[in-house]
Amino acid sequence: MYETIKYEVSGGIGYITINRPKAMNALNGQVLDEIYAACTEIEKDDAVKAVILTGEGKAFVAGADIAQMNQLDAVGGRALMIKGHKVMNYIEAIEKPFIAAVNGFALGGGCELAMACDIRVASEKAKFGQPEVNLGILPGFGGTQRLPRLVGKGMAKYLIMTADMINAEEALRIGLVEKVASPEDLIPTCEKIAQTIMSKAPIAIGIAKSTINNGYDLDMRAASTLEIEAFTSAFASEDKTEGMTAFLEKREAEFKNK
Ligand code: CAA
Repeated sequence: MYETIKYEVSGGIGYITINRPKAMNALNGQVLDEIYAACTEIEKDDAVKAVILTGEGKAFVAGADIAQMNQLDAVGGRALMIKGHKVMNYIEAIEKPFIAAVNGFALGGGCELAMACDIRVASEKAKFGQPEVNLGILPGFGGTQRLPRLVGKGMAKYLIMTADMINAEEALRIGLVEKVASPEDLIPTCEKIAQTIMSKAPIAIGIAKSTINNGYDLDMRAASTLEIEAFTSAFASEDKTEGMTAFLEKREAEFKNK
């Protein structure tokens, strides 16, 4: 069904693998459409509790497809960027954890795709960068916005203006990734994180994700109100009764929909 990605579900985890290794998994319109379609499946499939997104071969994703962009006029370029933003925003909107398993180059749109995920784990072989200024453009899938939110304005400007490529250790140091693993341990490390999250109350996890994402850009007063309402929704769930009862009865909680 998909031509440029692989999508499979196993053990409650949805695995999206960008699969254009000959083009370093560059994101053209079709890849973006297919990631979006897989996200639609993920959103409605109760069997999928968490997602691991990775790339086939030596790249995670080396950016938007330069060959395709080279053929586009400004209207076409804008349409491609809108499509990219739709995918990134959709990943952020789905109330399930997305973990980026960054196996290799995460450049331009690839770094932006990783940043739209909730948690990033880098292989020791991964390389990160926003090299768009080398091409006479600037990040267009959210990089000018998500990068400063993750690593601070100064470091974001440094990375975007110099187009420097950084390794996994530096990405960890600046807060662009949460963990580094050896290449062999990359997927198992992501699976362990997914399984840990999946062992918790799913409604609380989903609401926590949306509350962090939706509250991040609000002023503190509005954000506090958002959190109170979000908290109240979780408080009304059966999982709250089970979680607290289990604690008091000194047993493991058996959450619904786990
Ligand atoms: N788009 C299209 N094709 C790409 C690509 C991209 N972003 N990145 C790599 N490829 C292709 C190459 O053209 C090459 O194709 P051919 O074999 O047909 O010549 C193939 O993938 C292998 O690439 P290299 O031979 O260059 O491999 P390498 O190991 O020497 O270098 C690399 C790897 C450092 C990732 C290098 O390919 C590179 O610098 N790629 C471009 C990175 C980039 O500029 N990304 C930003 C794109 S713009 C963007 O993303 C805008 C946005 O914000 C949305």
